[in-house]
Amino acid sequence: MTSILAIETSCDETAAAVVTDGRTIHSNIVASQIDLHAQYGGVFPELASRAHAEAISAVVARAMSEADMTYADLDAIAVTQGPGLVGSLLVGIHFAKGLALATGLPLLGINHLEGHIYSLWLAPDFAESGFPVLALIVSGGHSELLVMRAHGVYQRIGGTIDDAAGEAFDKVGRLLGLPFPGGPSIEGAAVDGDSQSYNFPRAKTEGVYDFSFSGLKTAVMRAVTVQPRAGERRKRHRRAEKLATLRGAVNISDVAAAFQEAVTDALVASACRAASDFGVKAVYLTGGVSANTMLRDKLSAALALPVSYPPLYLCTDNAAMIGAAAYFRFRAGHRSKLDFEARANWRLSEDIYAD
Ligand code: KG4
Ligand code: ZN
Repeated sequence: MTSILAIETSCDETAAAVVTDGRTIHSNIVASQIDLHAQYGGVFPELASRAHAEAISAVVARAMSEADMTYADLDAIAVTQGPGLVGSLLVGIHFAKGLALATGLPLLGINHLEGHIYSLWLAPDFAESGFPVLALIVSGGHSELLVMRAHGVYQRIGGTIDDAAGEAFDKVGRLLGLPFPGGPSIEGAAVDGDSQSYNFPRAKTEGVYDFSFSGLKTAVMRAVTVQPRAGERRKRHRRAEKLATLRGAVNISDVAAAFQEAVTDALVASACRAASDFGVKAVYLTGGVSANTMLRDKLSAALALPVSYPPLYLCTDNAAMIGAAAYFRFRAGHRSKLDFEARANWRLSEDIYAD
C-alpha cells in the first residue's frame, strides 16, 4: 500500500490530501479563495500567493489529521510543480520541500494537468478503459486535447489558441454581471434561457483539434452591450469591455444559454474529430468545466465510446488528484530532486518527466 500526501497551490485553492494507491482518498482539504478574488472578477496573483502562504500550514495539518495518519505512515510527498501562477506554485513547492527534508520522504513534482486526468481514478466507480484514450482537459487556465497512450505518456494534439474554455465562461459571466466564477453562474442562468436566441460563432482554427474562444467572447460583448464611442475609448485608455454597458433589454438567461451552447459545440466537435482520427477506446473529460452538465451530456451523446468524467467535487482544483497522479509516477520509479523549480508553463507532452 502506497500513501501519498499531496499539496496543490497552482491557482486560487490551497489544497492538501492524503491518497492511497492512486484511488482511495483519506482526506481532501480545499481552502478556496473564491471570496477573496470575487471582488476583482478574477484571480489576483499577488493576493493568491499571500493567501496560500497564510493557509498552507493549517490545510496540510488538517489533511494529515483527517486521514488519521502521521508522517511515518506515508511513502511520499507530492506537490504541483506547474503549470500555474508562479508565486502560488512556489508556496506549495517550498512547503513540500521543507516537509521532505524534515521527514526524509521522497518528493514528486507533479504536472497539474496530469492531476486533472487522474481525478478520474478517484471516482469509486471508475474502470480503466485501456489505452489509448482521448483526454479533454477544460479548466479556467487550460483547454487541452491529448492522446494518452499509457500511464504518463501523452501526445498533445490540440488546445486553445487564445482563451481557455473556463476563462471564457468567467469573462462572459463578468460581462453579464453574474457572480464569479462564471462557469456555474452561467450554467445556472442558462436553465431558463433559450439557446437559439443568439447564433454565436463556433470559431474555425487552423489546427483541426484546436479551440478559440476569444472571438466568441467578443461576439457576446457586441450582442449585449452598448459600445463606447471610439473617441471616448481613446481618451480614457481603458479596455472597451470595461467601458461597455449592458443593454437594458438583454435577457441574461438567453445569452447564457446561447453562449454555453456555442462553447460546448466547439469542444465536442474537436473531441469527436480527434476520437475518430486517433482510434481511441474512451474519452476522459476533466477540469473545472467538466462540471458542466450540457458538456457532459453532449459529449456522451455524440460519441459511441465510453465517456468518463469525475464526480463534481473532483472537477475543480484539489490535491487528491495530484496524489492520484503521483501514485502512478511513484510506482514507475519517478522521484524529483529537491532543487526542482516551478514550471509556470509546463505542457503535458511525451517527455514531461524527462528531466
Ligand atoms: O480546474 P479549475 O478549478 O481551475 C483551473 O485549473 O483553471 O477550473 C475552474 C474553471 C473556472 O473557469 C470555472 O468558471 C469553470 O472551471 N467551471 C465551470 C463550471 N464549474 C466550474 N464552467 C462551466 N460550467 C460549470 N458548471
Ligand atoms: Zn485546474
